[in-house]
Amino acid sequence: MTQDELKQAVARAAVDYIAPKLHADDIVGVGTGSTANYFIDYLADIKDSFAGAVASSDASAERLKKHGIEVFDLNSVHQLVVYVDGADESNAQLELIKGGGAALTREKIVVATAKEFVCIADESKWVDILGAFPLPVEVIPMARSYVARELVKLGGDPVYREGVVTDNGNVILDVHHLQILNPKELETAINQITGVVTNGLFARRPADVLLLGTQSGVITLRAKY
Ligand code: 5RP
Repeated sequence: MTQDELKQAVARAAVDYIAPKLHADDIVGVGTGSTANYFIDYLADIKDSFAGAVASSDASAERLKKHGIEVFDLNSVHQLVVYVDGADESNAQLELIKGGGAALTREKIVVATAKEFVCIADESKWVDILGAFPLPVEVIPMARSYVARELVKLGGDPVYREGVVTDNGNVILDVHHLQILNPKELETAINQITGVVTNGLFARRPADVLLLGTQSGVITLRAKY
């Protein structure tokens, strides 16, 4: 199977996983990226079994609406029954790096309101140690150079993602050459830098379930603590 076919397989598996849990008044949290796009497409097949969705990006909101799925403002929703999203890396604790698509802040906000976080990823995203994928950090534009200098002090090598403006009007620094042995501590340390909106480590709120697409089928993994 190609990487794309693995993404489709986990997206389908996510719909099968959540379908029995959904009630007519439930709102589903939906992530961003190519795997999340496949999830949205399959979610349309069961759109009559839930009330609508909250999206973690304008792009996902548009795709949901094209399928006739109602998109809610997060402020009008108390709790999401589930949040489904892709990742750039996952370790065995289901701590993630996310933000390859620059949607990390909204993703982190939406997942904070969800009862269950289901991550969907192909096997290329599975790692022993997080950090080979450059860690995205969303930054207020005027703080870019200051934050970059502070990230160097933490041992990283930040690179400005040129030409990218987030849905929140901010910029992204991708931090290379990190070997992230303590994801929770690093997540907190980076978020303490003035001018950082948030970073792409999802360790304080890891995924609850990872549906991992492999050549032998989709594997369901739960965090090992
Ligand atoms: C977007 C994300 C995506 O979930 C992550 O980049 C994975 O993307 P894809 O499913 O296209 O491989 O965090 O900000």
